[in-house]
Amino acid sequence: MKVAVLGAAGGIGQALALLLKTQLPAGSALSLYDIAPVTPGVAVDLSHIPTDVKVEGFSGEDATPALHGADIVLISAGVARKPGMDRADLFNVNAGIVRNLIEQVASTAPKALIGVITNPVNTTVAIAAEVLKKAGVYDKNRLFGISTLDVIRANTFVAALKGKKPTDIEVPVVGGHSGVTILPLLSQVKGISFSDQEVADLTKRIQNAGTEVVEAKAGGGSATLSMGQAAARFGLSLVRAIQGEANVVECAYVEGDGEYARFFSQPLLLGKNGIVERRALGPLSAFEQQALNGMLDTLKKDIVQGEAFVK
Ligand code: NAD
Ligand code: LMR
Repeated sequence: MKVAVLGAAGGIGQALALLLKTQLPAGSALSLYDIAPVTPGVAVDLSHIPTDVKVEGFSGEDATPALHGADIVLISAGVARKPGMDRADLFNVNAGIVRNLIEQVASTAPKALIGVITNPVNTTVAIAAEVLKKAGVYDKNRLFGISTLDVIRANTFVAALKGKKPTDIEVPVVGGHSGVTILPLLSQVKGISFSDQEVADLTKRIQNAGTEVVEAKAGGGSATLSMGQAAARFGLSLVRAIQGEANVVECAYVEGDGEYARFFSQPLLLGKNGIVERRALGPLSAFEQQALNGMLDTLKKDIVQGEAFVK
């Protein structure tokens, strides 16, 4: 099993690489790439941790040495928000970075499962799809926008509010990954009921949690450690699915049947070749249905921006 992290010298990349070095199955390879010259050093640093995971690091303009033979590619390269910005403000810089890296994935590891972390995810995943399509290697079952951070935040906030263990809570979060497009399905949390006020407050907090971190870091970046954990959870779920484990289910932002929008986060059954089944959203409360209807214009606009960037 070979996992490549692109953007590996950054805040998310280093946290993610550490978690993968300690949690990937024995015999795996971890391949780190970043434009920053420190990247081979990050790999040397990690290589001193005594696990049976081989680490290599590459820097410079060419990502391809890191990509040869990769089964999974996780991309966190790009700039992060500062207070006062929203995720869409990152488009100007990050769109080109994602296009360039995906072109290299298309030529070097066309069968890899790809997880895009770089914001704005609603748009960068559309860019990635169009680049892969242009290169003739697009498989919609193999491309994911990683929205797992919304799920782990929802689990944490619900557990804190209701006095439960966070590991016992699993909140499906659907839609996209920004503002109103983030929709936690609190009505589906097993064994817990919420008042209307709790639903409104929790939904708002989950939607604004990225901004909560950006403001708390006061110009020093956005979520890196919780995102490292979220990306590790998602990446390790892909690993388990590739290895044949049954019933691996995660929410992620993927191309579906277009019922709501071309790309949409929903629960997915994962297997050796990526998505095996896109699961229906299930019954929604009136609040959730209204929020779903209300997000679609924004989500579709974000997607069109990505598609137009590549055409
Ligand atoms: P960071 O600035 O700490 O790290 C980004 C890294 O990308 C840097 O090491 C930089 O050298 C590298 N980089 C920049 N251009 C590159 C290129 N062309 N090729 C290779 N590497 C390049 O930022 P971060 O905090 O790690 O965040 C990275 C991205 O992840 C941001 O866009 C951020 O908004 C996004 N993010 C997404 C989620 C999510 O839930 N999907 C959560 C948090 C952050
Ligand atoms: C997050 O949700 O924390 C990330 O998307 C980063 C951000 O800019 O909010």
